[in-house]
Formats: sequence, C-alpha cells, structure tokens
Amino acid sequence: MSHSAATSASLYARVQGADPEIASLLHAEWRRQEEGIELIASENQASAAVIEAMGSTLTNKYAEGYPGRRYYGGCEHVDRVEEIARDRLKTLFGAESANVQPSSGSQANQAAMLALIPPGATVLAMDLNHGGHLSHGHPKNASGIYYQFVHYGVQPDTERLDYDALRDQALEVKPALLMAGASAYSRTLDFERLAAIAREAGAKFMVDMAHIAGLVAGGQHPSPVPHADVVTMTTHKTLRGPRGGAIVCKKDWIKQVNSAVFPGIQGGPLMHVIAAKAIAFAEALQPSFAEYQARTVRNAAALAGGLQRHGYRLVSGGTDNHLMLVDLRAPGPGITGAEAEAALGRAHITVNKNLIPFDPETPMRASGIRIGTPAITTRGFGEADMETLAAWIDRVLRAPEDADVASEVGKAVRALCARHPIYPDYFA
Ligand SMILES: Cc1ncc(COP(=O)(O)O)c(C=O)c1O
Repeated sequence: MSHSAATSASLYARVQGADPEIASLLHAEWRRQEEGIELIASENQASAAVIEAMGSTLTNKYAEGYPGRRYYGGCEHVDRVEEIARDRLKTLFGAESANVQPSSGSQANQAAMLALIPPGATVLAMDLNHGGHLSHGHPKNASGIYYQFVHYGVQPDTERLDYDALRDQALEVKPALLMAGASAYSRTLDFERLAAIAREAGAKFMVDMAHIAGLVAGGQHPSPVPHADVVTMTTHKTLRGPRGGAIVCKKDWIKQVNSAVFPGIQGGPLMHVIAAKAIAFAEALQPSFAEYQARTVRNAAALAGGLQRHGYRLVSGGTDNHLMLVDLRAPGPGITGAEAEAALGRAHITVNKNLIPFDPETPMRASGIRIGTPAITTRGFGEADMETLAAWIDRVLRAPEDADVASEVGKAVRALCARHPIYPDYFA
C-alpha cells in the first residue's frame, strides 16, 4: 500500500521557495522514512489525506471552548469538524461520549486524572520499568508531582501481569484510581478483570489504550470502553491518524472531562489536527482497517517467531499484539539496547532501546529493544518479509561493529523498501 499525495508537491515547492533549509530537512526525513524499516512500535504512517488536513488553513483558527459554546466568532465550520470527529470516535469505539481536543496522549492522561480524582489522590498504575508510561506517575512528570503513585508490575517468572497479585495490592493500597495501559507490554490486557478489581477496591478505573487503540478499533484486542470510567488514547500509533490524543468516557463523566481538557489544561484546540483526526476515524471505520490490524498482529507473531528461531529471548515468551520486547543479554548477542539501536540504525532499521522487566541497566543503555509492526504493515510488508527481517536483525546484532554487514543489510533494506513506497509522489 502507498499513500498518494497529489497536491503535496506544490505544497513543498512553496516550502522550498520560502525556506530552503527547512525544505531540505523535510525532504531528508521523507527519504529516511521511505528508505528505512520503521520498527518503532508507537509509530505509523498516516494517510496522505490525514497529512493534507494537518497542513490546512484550520491551523489559523482559534476555537477555545466546544461546538456551539466557543469564546471566539467564526467557528461555524470548525464546530462541524469537531462534531463529526466526536461522532466518528464514539461510533468507532461504541462509546457514550468523546473529547477529541487533547493535543497529545500525555495531555489526555493529565485531563483524565484531573477529571476523575482530586490533587494528591493515590493512583495505582503500571510500573514504568515494566512497560508503563511516564505520564503514569514518573516522579518528574506532572502525574507523579501532583498525585501519589503506587506501581504494579509483572511477575518475575512469567513477565506477565498476575491479576490475583494485583487485586491483593489494590485492596491493600486502596487507590482512588486504578490505571491500566502500557507502552511496552506484549500481552492482552484483561479489562473486565481490572474493572472488577477497581470496583472491589473502591477505585475509579481509567485505561490508557494509546498503544492498542487501533487494535481495539479493528477487533484485535478486547475493548476497555465497556469497563472503564474514562479511556484515553493517542491517535498516531496503531490508530494511524495525526499526532494527538483523544478521550472516550461514560456520559456521567463527560462534563468533568470536557472541563479538565479546556480550561483545565489546554487553551485553543488544534482544529487542523482535529480535522485530520476525523479523517483517520473515518478510515478506521472501514473494513480494510480491521484487516490491516489483523495483518499487524500476524506480522508481529511472525517476526517474534523468526527472532526466536534465531535464538532470541522475548520478554514473556512472545506477543499477543503489535509489539515485542527482545532481551539482548547472553545467550543473546550480549549487547545493550543502546548498542543494538545504533547498529540497526546504521543498517536503516529503526528500533528503540527499552528496559526489560527487572532490568539491571539504566534506561539510556537498557538490556532490550522494543519492536513493533504497525508501520511496516501499513506499507505492505507481509509475513514472508518477517522471516527475512528477523535474519537481517540477527545478522546486524551478532556483528554490531561490522561496517560491511551494516552496509550489506542496509542495501537489502533499501531494496525491499523501494518495493513498498509510502508517499511515492510527495516530492515528485
Ligand atoms: C501508553 C502511552 N500513553 C501515553 C503516551 C503519550 O503520548 P504522547 O507522546 O502523545 O504524549 C504514550 C506514548 O508513547 C504511551 O505509550
């Protein structure tokens, strides 16, 4: 698949005329994306229509407030855009209410917490070192500064959540809020069970489905929406829309959620991005999107199997979703995640270093890498390509300093990428 972008050539010609320095960087980044294999699990390739909408004149419009209740005039068109985006998001997830204004996933989380609990309240959330996210209570994030976080983690033997242990912890901690969702957890989350634990502990229940929103929309992961008070997401990961956040919730919470987003933590919404979100939600409502999510999961399973056949240990033994965590310690190649990230980068394969549960390394070195298949699946890679990719990754990681290996693999990577262009006519 490729995203055709008929008008972009002229748009970029204008950038070129106005600012050649930035234009050449835009071109270089486009080429980097076209010519490299993108395995960062939180990235994807939005459609050309989504990208066009972000480059529209809606960026000029101030629209503080909500449709029909704005603090500025001239909002009749952006009101419709926001209403359409909200309606499509509700349909996509079968949700009672929606807010499409959060500018990022972190801001969606911040707004959800502001809506659900008072400052200083106790929150039980997934450990950042076991796959959680920094907006789930990192001491330097606003979440960790304004709330009392206690964290749960995976079990040392299974590297999976143990719901009985989590229930015991919740009953002991008695949090005001139980938070679920992760950035680097390769297993299915049992939202029904988590909701029952929250209820029993007297906690509100919030799910951050940033990573799996597309899988949920495409029927490849159970939905948290029937079970959680509030569900946050990013729109740019598996959901394949513009960079941003969104919230769906029970109708009892929408007043608090709306007021937490604006005026709680944001000013004017990014209306050009909301238009792009509306387009992405319409795309996600198509049957082809569910089929794409099924291919993403199949590709992840195939890549995981390929890496295991090359002798790699995967955290928790594999994956149920779009990502996997690879443990690089002996008997693997015995290099750090940082070294692996750099070596694969030289061969035009992009991954990120990642802590593995109970990692003795620092986050900047890490013992593992995180690999995801959403972006390569969008550009049309299939299961047969996963076998090839596993062999290339293995070749590079077994000889991370070998420039010839990097160059040979890099050449093969570019040849495969050339057969799967993403935005072929962007700079045509
Ligand atoms: C689980 C989770 N929540 C929230 C976020 C934050 O999203 P953003 O980068 O848009 O703030 C991420 C980003 O990686 C994430 O993985």
